Amino acid sequence: MSSVSIITKELENLGLQQPSTIKDSLPNYNIIDVFRNYISDELNRITEIDKETIFNSLDNSKLLDQGDLIIPIPKLKIKGINPNEKSKEWSGKFEKGKFISEVKSQGVFLQFFFNKNLLFNLTINDVLKRKQEFGYLPLGVGKKAIVEFSSPNIAKPFHAGHLRSTIIGGFISNLYEKIGWEVKRINYLGDWGKQFGLLAIGFERYGSEELLLEDPINHLFEVYVKINNDVRNETNANTEGEKNEEFDASEQDEKKLQSSTNEEARNFFKRMEDGDESALKIWERFRDLSIERYIDTYARLNIKYDVYSGESQVPKEKMQNATKLFEEKGLIHIDRGAKLIDLTKFNKKLGKALVEKSDGTSLYLTRDVGEAIKRYETYKFDKMIYVIASQQDLHCQQFFEILKQMGFEWANNLEHINFGMVQGMSTRKGNVVFLDNILQETKEKMHEVMKKNEDKYSQIEEPDKIADLIGISAVMIQDFQSKRILNYEFKWDRMTSFEGDTGPYLQYAHSRLCSVERKSNIKKEELENANFELLTEPCALNLIRIIAQYPDIIKKTVKNMEASTIVTYLFNLTHIVSQCYDILWVAGQEKDIAIARLALYATARQVLNNGMKLLGLTPVERM
Ligand code: ARG
Repeated sequence: MSSVSIITKELENLGLQQPSTIKDSLPNYNIIDVFRNYISDELNRITEIDKETIFNSLDNSKLLDQGDLIIPIPKLKIKGINPNEKSKEWSGKFEKGKFISEVKSQGVFLQFFFNKNLLFNLTINDVLKRKQEFGYLPLGVGKKAIVEFSSPNIAKPFHAGHLRSTIIGGFISNLYEKIGWEVKRINYLGDWGKQFGLLAIGFERYGSEELLLEDPINHLFEVYVKINNDVRNETNANTEGEKNEEFDASEQDEKKLQSSTNEEARNFFKRMEDGDESALKIWERFRDLSIERYIDTYARLNIKYDVYSGESQVPKEKMQNATKLFEEKGLIHIDRGAKLIDLTKFNKKLGKALVEKSDGTSLYLTRDVGEAIKRYETYKFDKMIYVIASQQDLHCQQFFEILKQMGFEWANNLEHINFGMVQGMSTRKGNVVFLDNILQETKEKMHEVMKKNEDKYSQIEEPDKIADLIGISAVMIQDFQSKRILNYEFKWDRMTSFEGDTGPYLQYAHSRLCSVERKSNIKKEELENANFELLTEPCALNLIRIIAQYPDIIKKTVKNMEASTIVTYLFNLTHIVSQCYDILWVAGQEKDIAIARLALYATARQVLNNGMKLLGLTPVERM
């Protein structure tokens, strides 16, 4: 990759060499690592402490006046020294070279200040040359990850849990690609089970060919609601206090559902399970039409799946293998004709898991076991990530354990990325929610807000599209703002506001940086020879420091898998940019100064752009 040498080349232009490389450092991708390596080298010369220990003791400082990197001497874990004395002694002996401008001893701390001009030079040149590649780290080259996310159920609402899985999964896929993994995105649809028998019967009664083609997702849901009503009316389930809208025949106890409609549905599904072509054809049409529509909706979120798999796609023999294997191990219990695996032997919390119903049909759990085996055989993945709500924590632990007990080495490479609930996500009209409806409504709301500024609004070429993109940012940033596991409340007004840390604000910050570039009349090529000695203001230094931290932030995010780490970083970045606007003017300045400042802004814009795209947003240039 050509980007490997940009930092090294830049160092050479300045008459410098890469300091020797410490294990785990990535000085061709992470500028701060260049400085870390230099400090480790030099301090090792003075102290003979090994370089890796020094490297790992270097902390980022929070405040400009504490230096760029800090070593708390006790962190080096050397016995019998006085940290205060050593701090003084070492700071005095440290050869700063061209990398460091100052070393201060502050109590038990050693504070290192980077050579500013070098930091500006390396960072701005690296970002402007590598552009969207800035932030890439070659951590997973040659490895393959499967990320399964979204996974809605056909003919049922696309609820908040699916929305979270979609955007978190999209982000995690992007992140893995950013660190060099090959990623396969899989959508595992809920497209099998008795409800499809019900749906087929329902379609005969209430379906419309025209509506199916026009809006398959909503129409199939309508049909599903109607046929469920029929079942409910035929049984006496309603007298048992089931609420109208929550009634779902596929989730009710069979014994309660002595109804002719239900009987028909069961027969229809039996035909599907037995491979009856005419029955499968109807089901396949529902599935295909739904997928077609999903593809468009996901595209609005910048998500494209490699595979639309689903519960229907799991090979029978793979599921039976699981049961067989446990039978051989003597771990299967039969209870009224149904088969259970006792997982408490391996882990008390896991309980007993039902793996086969009395009529021999498969279950959600067994399908997951079979699907995982199929996926390993197909992809030989190094890691497979499931992005599923925390309500299914036990389910995931159970099928992971079953796979481990079956002796699959790769079962140790399965990971469940879970998340909390969203409260109050319904459209403002209070309808049942589909992803499309939510996006539509956010877009309308955004459009209203934009129209209030008539001047600006008239300059936007495709207001409808821009409103859509900003609306999507609103939904996504709200979701990404806190740790995944936390629940949050869906708040229309807060989320669509242009003030405070919101999606629209990030978009605004990006479009304002674009406008600074547009209005400057400075050509891109002119930025290449910018003189960074002219960037003397503390706010400029603040800005370049946070920009240079982006690769570190990516690394941290890989550890915690939290989009909020990126979001917090981007808000910090945009806040510093906005402080700079008051001081670092471009318009009306002497050409050299204008060029140096614009180079800094262009660098900030690129990093903001990269971060937003990593989250799955489409940054807008005008709004
Ligand atoms: N379709 C399921 C639901 O809506 C989610 C599937 C999650 N993925 C899995 N491999 N179990 O609850």
